[in-house]
Amino acid sequence: MQHAGMTNADSIAVPAIVDAVIRSRRSVRAFLPTAVPRAVVEELLDVARTAPSNSNTQPWFVHVLAGEPRRRLCEALLRSHEADALPPSTHFPAELPADCASRQAEFGVRYYAALGIDRADAAARGRQSGRNFAFFDAPVGLIFTIDRSLTRHSWADFGMFVQTLMIAARARGLDTCPQVSFVRHEPVIAQLLQLPPGRTVVCGMSLGYADPDAAVNELGMPRAAVGEFTVFRGF
Ligand SMILES: Cc1cc2nc3c(=O)[nH]c(=O)nc-3n(C[C@H](O)[C@H](O)[C@H](O)COP(=O)(O)O)c2cc1C
Repeated sequence: MQHAGMTNADSIAVPAIVDAVIRSRRSVRAFLPTAVPRAVVEELLDVARTAPSNSNTQPWFVHVLAGEPRRRLCEALLRSHEADALPPSTHFPAELPADCASRQAEFGVRYYAALGIDRADAAARGRQSGRNFAFFDAPVGLIFTIDRSLTRHSWADFGMFVQTLMIAARARGLDTCPQVSFVRHEPVIAQLLQLPPGRTVVCGMSLGYADPDAAVNELGMPRAAVGEFTVFRGF
């Protein structure tokens, strides 16, 4: 369908451009030190806030950190990671569905191979998971929070918000890594960012410009084909 103000040429080009931007997103885990101006992050958030939400409830809150506040948070998180004293967070059920489990295993194989880390080397794996808390050297770190009383549909809204932000970033040549790793260290985050008592951490995110020479940025995580997760009826 053609929208008002679009020419025929636009209606051909726009899907190709939008698709290319979406397909170009990948999780980046090695960033250049190039700064990202506050105005650019505000622009990304301004796009992200157009994401849909159940009854337009817009359950998202965001902390954007650069410079000294980012450094202070990273330092505290790394200390907490190294102390290893907080209970492990449960991102997944004890037993993953088989298809999810095999994809998770494949992710681990690709990830550690790209980094040259022997998977039996727990210390090296621990150091690498600590890189999450340096936002993989990205100049901007984001922490996303939600009211803890909200339930799964609001968390689904949140996913749409985060994906919209990541795509807006990609359209501007920026890269991201969404990170659930921060959740375990919520008490540290809550204290440093002075989160209100009713707020919980959804995830964090690294934001910046990808290091083009880092193999870890080229994992090329595969996806199941449409036919593997879709049932069409009535066509
Ligand atoms: C909610 C969420 C949490 C994630 N948490 C982490 C994380 O803590 N650390 C990390 O390195 N990658 C994290 N990822 C990135 C996933 O590993 C990545 O999206 C997946 O392997 C697919 O690869 P791609 O994003 O490059 O397409 C997370 C992704 C999502 C959506």
